[in-house]
Amino acid sequence: MNLKPVSYILRIGHRPERDQRVTTHVGLSSRALGASGMYLAADDAKVAESINDVANRFGGTYFCENNVKWKSCINQFKREGGKVVHLTMYGLKLQDVIAEIRKEEKVLIVVGAEKVPGDMYGMADYNVAVANQPHSEISALALCLDHLYEGRELDLDFPNAELEVLPTKVGKTTIKHDHEHETDSEIT
Ligand SMILES: C[S@@+](CC[C@H](N)C(=O)[O-])C[C@H]1O[C@@H](n2cnc3c(N)ncnc32)[C@H](O)[C@@H]1O
Repeated sequence: MNLKPVSYILRIGHRPERDQRVTTHVGLSSRALGASGMYLAADDAKVAESINDVANRFGGTYFCENNVKWKSCINQFKREGGKVVHLTMYGLKLQDVIAEIRKEEKVLIVVGAEKVPGDMYGMADYNVAVANQPHSEISALALCLDHLYEGRELDLDFPNAELEVLPTKVGKTTIKHDHEHETDSEIT
């Protein structure tokens, strides 16, 4: 299933000494909920590696690119025809703008960590609030993606997974796919 618009995340303001866990969750949540990749505007190879490791094992084509320059990333994305959606509690209400955003071909969703630079507000095509209240980039991003894709992201396939979770009423079941030898084994 192809979700439209294609979405990418730009994580700005990441501080390696305190944001590793949240940034990792920004990556994993966005991957699980339909985004195609994340640009990390900080040098933290460990975080990028841990996201890419999960992405490789659980399938699909999600990527995390370490150490991008946030302004260049935005400018390049716009030159290629993409639109920039900045999540901020000061923005327009998600429910009022999401239908318009859904018509775009590809979007770069920007989430901050520490105080976001003032220029960001002017560079965004859409400044969007998920409720005009302070909360978290993970919850804002999850709700934004869910509204963008109207729940269809929950049925996404993640092709070529090494590990696949089998939904079970009780307990845990995982299938380990060995693509090289074309064998599957069940782990419970
Ligand atoms: C924990 S907040 C910190 C924001 C920071 N104190 C500031 O003033 O810019 C981190 C990020 O979460 C996101 N965020 C928090 N509340 C939000 C909301 N109500 N709507 C949309 N995004 C939100 C924004 O992307 C923000 O940059």
